[in-house]
Amino acid sequence: MADDATPGAPAPTSTGSPKRIQWGTRFGFILAAAGSAVGLGNIWKFPYITGVYGGGAFVIVYLVCVLLVGLPLMIAELMIGRRAQKNPVGAFQKLHYEGSPWKYTGWLGVASGFLILSFYSVISGYVLAYIVKSFQGFSGSPDQIRAQFDALEADPTMSILLHTVFMVIAIWIIARGVQKGIEKCSKVLMPLLLALLVALAFHGLFNTEGGSEAVSFLFQPDFSKLTAEAILSALGHAFFTLSLGMGAMITYGSYMKRDAHIVRDAITISFLDTAIALVAGIAIFSLVFAYGLEPDAGFGLIFKTLPVLFADTGPIVAVAFFVMLFWAALTSAISLLEVVVSYFIDQRGWNRTRATIAMGGTIYALGILSAISAIKLPFRGEDTGFLLIFDYITTNYMLPIGGLLTCLFSAWVMNDLTRREEFGSSGFWYRALIITLKFVTPLAVLITLLHGLELLPFMEY
Ligand code: PFF
Repeated sequence: MADDATPGAPAPTSTGSPKRIQWGTRFGFILAAAGSAVGLGNIWKFPYITGVYGGGAFVIVYLVCVLLVGLPLMIAELMIGRRAQKNPVGAFQKLHYEGSPWKYTGWLGVASGFLILSFYSVISGYVLAYIVKSFQGFSGSPDQIRAQFDALEADPTMSILLHTVFMVIAIWIIARGVQKGIEKCSKVLMPLLLALLVALAFHGLFNTEGGSEAVSFLFQPDFSKLTAEAILSALGHAFFTLSLGMGAMITYGSYMKRDAHIVRDAITISFLDTAIALVAGIAIFSLVFAYGLEPDAGFGLIFKTLPVLFADTGPIVAVAFFVMLFWAALTSAISLLEVVVSYFIDQRGWNRTRATIAMGGTIYALGILSAISAIKLPFRGEDTGFLLIFDYITTNYMLPIGGLLTCLFSAWVMNDLTRREEFGSSGFWYRALIITLKFVTPLAVLITLLHGLELLPFMEY
């Protein structure tokens, strides 16, 4: 049974509104939010786009974005969510006024959740397939191992089947509710994933020939390779990987207890997320260089590199890795679904089960477009499948625009006293945060967006 306060049984609070369900423990919140942040973005996407955009300089821009844009915005989203105790659409209205146009920022978030989950589930389905393949063991030359992924991606029946299995699991968890579903599922496996990634990175660094090349690829910047698009993608990725710009942290913040410490928790989550991406990057690029593979192999990178190693290590490491990757994907996918579902519960008065099945089902249907890789549209000069189109539009535009608006709201619209209460102090760090949210973060996002669209007046394109 779902554990939420459904519209039929609201428990009144001193303010007269129904009492919102909360995380069971403070640690439960951190794990759930870190579970949302750490996912395919860290292990699948970060290495793949770093490879495509040429390494070091891209990584540095991404790290700067995490610090100047990601962390302040995560604090802002959590403050908005905990204060409003609502889904993203309701939150902007509650903190401003009923019917306020800021609700469209929440709407944009719900739409982003819809689109992202539709393709996220397809990739997660590939991870499921690789769990099965791991049991059978990988064998053959690197070329043969790579060809296996291409064959899987080209098989629509299999891709749809895997996408179906994944969505059913995600729907089932969200239907169970915040504590019994999300929190319970986030408590497992995350520490193990980190330990395994560290072990793989150590192996890559010290036992393979590719270790030092991987480190220079990732950390020696060559700024001449940095295109406007690469900068925009680094910014977009900072949003994607930290689950920002679409109200996921507003939603998770809305279940936070009053005594939780927003700033400390936001720092912990951002740090963990970034560390995991870097460790995954080292593990994967060591292999790429050790086996003479191409760093810019594209979105199949992890499925094409790690199995080459797993052919030597045997099935246990392979199964462990893909099971944990699957879990990381699942704890992110449920946060995407929760944003959409919480909107229908709070704003439309649906019960959790109905909202989850209806919205999960719609997202599932949309995902079929991404699962059939043969359906392609002309996009940025190439015939491109829906998976990459949805990924590009959400990451590079919808999340940064949603994030920019959220940031402006928190800095210029939200009441200062409210903010201070949520922050927990009004000293130096509070003032630094507000100045960052008022000027630094919005300017950084705006300039990057305009530059990505080649619209900056003083640049030559
Ligand atoms: N942060 C997740 C990842 O890195 O895989 C993806 C994601 C989850 C993006 C939730 C956005 C979101 F709201």
